[in-house]
Amino acid sequence: MARRVTLTQYLLEQQRSHDKVSPGLRLLLEVVARACKMIGYHVNKGPLSGIGDVVGNINVQGEAQKKLDVVANEVLVEANEWGGQLAAMVSEEMDGPYIVPDRYPRGEYLLLMDPLDGSSNLDVNGPVGTIFSVLRHQDEGRVPDENAFLQPGSKQVAAGFALYGPATVLVLTVGNGTVGFTLDKELGSFVLTQPNIRIPEDTSEFAINASNARNWEPPVKRYIDECLAGKTGPRGRDFNMRWVASMVADVYRILCRGGVFMYPRDAKHKEGRLRLMYEANPMSFIIEQAGGTATDGERRILDLQPTALHQRVGVVMGSKNEVERIAAYHREAS
Ligand code: AHG
Ligand code: MN
Ligand code: MN
Repeated sequence: MARRVTLTQYLLEQQRSHDKVSPGLRLLLEVVARACKMIGYHVNKGPLSGIGDVVGNINVQGEAQKKLDVVANEVLVEANEWGGQLAAMVSEEMDGPYIVPDRYPRGEYLLLMDPLDGSSNLDVNGPVGTIFSVLRHQDEGRVPDENAFLQPGSKQVAAGFALYGPATVLVLTVGNGTVGFTLDKELGSFVLTQPNIRIPEDTSEFAINASNARNWEPPVKRYIDECLAGKTGPRGRDFNMRWVASMVADVYRILCRGGVFMYPRDAKHKEGRLRLMYEANPMSFIIEQAGGTATDGERRILDLQPTALHQRVGVVMGSKNEVERIAAYHREAS
């Protein structure tokens, strides 16, 4: 039987041979992965978990929180607060930073997370996931505040996501390529199944919520119109479309077979729909490490200087040549 590489072995290898992972970061990523297993367990129970309903709270983004959003957030906070690697955490589901309590040692890292992504899919047994990002706390002597988190995505030391689909997968980058693990549920361990994810540079598949079409900016409209025109249009070939309404699932598909994922800013979502710190930055790091590109239309997402924790941003990411074409359409339009 071929030797199976577990997440632990992969991280140890990154620590020993590539100097990409400190012992502290390795422990932190293992704890995050363990929390994802727990969240996946709840998700897989579906209605039997009894925690799929709306709780009635409205989160800081003005959205109804589902019980499972709240549970996933709690699982991540409880798993990560005592290990000694983290100084603080922020999450889509919390208004401000959660500082590691005084009773635990505070470490050198900051964790950012979207505990449950794609949660509108919960009611329909569609795929959901967890997105996370790790930054270094630049001023280790001080208790971190919101400003400690406002670092550009290029400063991330690790990013990843779990996708709770037919199989539970964990995609990870520590800045040395993008890799994928599949959860062996009997053994309870993540096994390396995609040791070197590469996104094809060209694609004939795009993902966008077309119900926003009337609000799109001209360069986006131009790009999609050209795709839809297919063989007889300027692109000279037919395109296919997918939209899962779950960024983890749409991005995972692009990591597997290429494509372009877009949630651009538009007349309704003036700043964009997705969150820079919890969604766009970690996914951009993962995509770039797999040979893809990520832009807000004008600028590389990883270069953006965040100004607020819950800030939103336009997102165009995936296969390099298509993303660059869309960026060129934006340049031509301005
Ligand atoms: P979340 O469930 O964390 O709020 O994120 C949902 C996001 C993203 O996963 C997805 O791509 C997008 O919102 C779907 O938006 P629409 O409902 O507008 O299609
Ligand atoms: Mn999300
Ligand atoms: Mn979410």
